[in-house]
Amino acid sequence: MSETVIHTAIEYIGRLFSDNAGGHDTEHTLRVYRTAMAIADTEPACDREIIALAALLHDADDHKLFRTENNENARTFLKNAGIPESRIERIIETINAVSFSKNQGKVPETIEAKIVQDADRLDALGAIGIARTFAYGGEHGRPLSDSVQHFYDKLLRLKDLMNTEAAKKIAEKRHEFLLEFLQELEDEQ
Ligand code: NI
Repeated sequence: MSETVIHTAIEYIGRLFSDNAGGHDTEHTLRVYRTAMAIADTEPACDREIIALAALLHDADDHKLFRTENNENARTFLKNAGIPESRIERIIETINAVSFSKNQGKVPETIEAKIVQDADRLDALGAIGIARTFAYGGEHGRPLSDSVQHFYDKLLRLKDLMNTEAAKKIAEKRHEFLLEFLQELEDEQ
């Protein structure tokens, strides 16, 4: 795997998300990348470069942030970085298999997509998940109770949706932390 391409991709996403909500998205992307690589270390048969680039570019064409079609930001970056066409297609397929809206909730078929999806979902759990939920609620002017409801509607279900063994273990710990937090929150009412 070319370290140069990875570095260039990290710089690229920093620029891409630079005027976005105080860098939330850059930080999220970097955490997903690091978590995906940690999961990849536990899976003997996976293509690390596909995982790294799909993780780094997984929100580069997020419809909430960009008006691009056909993964244009990710494609342009990969082309300029000299990635061969067949590999670009694999990376784009991986990104699209991770996205809930594009994939309609289907379990991804490839190990690379399973890993990136796990890493993305793990970022919604644990201390980071709590911080992100309330930050998002605050940005949208929602009361705390709405954010708390989001834990029950969505975040507490994620543990059972993990694809890989490594992610299941991390999810278990982060899930427990969410439950502890919710209990404490209730005790303080
Ligand atoms: Ni994401």
